[in-house]
Amino acid sequence: MATVLRDLSYRYQWLYDGVSRLATLAVGGEDRFRQLPMVGVSDAPGLRVLDLCCGSGQTTAYWVARGAAVTGLDASPRSLARAKVNVPGAEYVQGFAEEMPLFDNDFQVVHTSAALHEMTSDQLRQILQEALRVLEPGGVFTTVDFHRPDPSVMGRLMWPGLMTFMALFETETSWAFIDVDLVELCRSVGFKSSELRRYAGGSVQVVQAIA
Ligand SMILES: C[S@@+](CC[C@H](N)C(=O)[O-])C[C@H]1O[C@@H](n2cnc3c(N)ncnc32)[C@H](O)[C@@H]1O
Repeated sequence: MATVLRDLSYRYQWLYDGVSRLATLAVGGEDRFRQLPMVGVSDAPGLRVLDLCCGSGQTTAYWVARGAAVTGLDASPRSLARAKVNVPGAEYVQGFAEEMPLFDNDFQVVHTSAALHEMTSDQLRQILQEALRVLEPGGVFTTVDFHRPDPSVMGRLMWPGLMTFMALFETETSWAFIDVDLVELCRSVGFKSSELRRYAGGSVQVVQAIA
């Protein structure tokens, strides 16, 4: 069921975008969700940003609007074809995040939104190692994704929506992912420092790590 609905949402962009709009209401809407991982990141014109698992360019557009020089990478040719139309101001590369066809030390920022929850634990580690490899020293890895809600009232209010979303659109990787300690994982692959911010009763996390 979940895989069927996920495939449908990847096939029909209106469905993906509608679900994204609904799912991001918890943090105040999609504009805010897309910009949460940018908080604290330089907005210098020409900043070299890799948007990993960029999909149809949902967050790529926001990086381009900030004046960054953006490369979007995704495994899906269909998503990349849409991204090229939706956000023509970026460059695009087809490839796997766990084996990026990109040079070492080439980016100042590696960003990924709403994608790591689709990865197995082995993939997660490989992707973080690859992010570190393509970042220049001092560069920033920044990601926004789900997290297990905290036990507060707000966190408990978030559970029904999150569970429904994950049951309908996600697989077992997302259930495992909400308990992963990404901060520790970043440190374990060699990032110098890593920190976590949580929103919406803890159900949304932003992790930023310095290469
Ligand atoms: C849920 S979408 C997220 C898209 C976009 N970043 C967003 O915020 O809406 C996940 C994306 O990751 C891509 N993806 C999944 N596994 C991948 C992998 N191993 N390497 C590269 N891209 C991958 C999918 O093709 C899809 O476009």
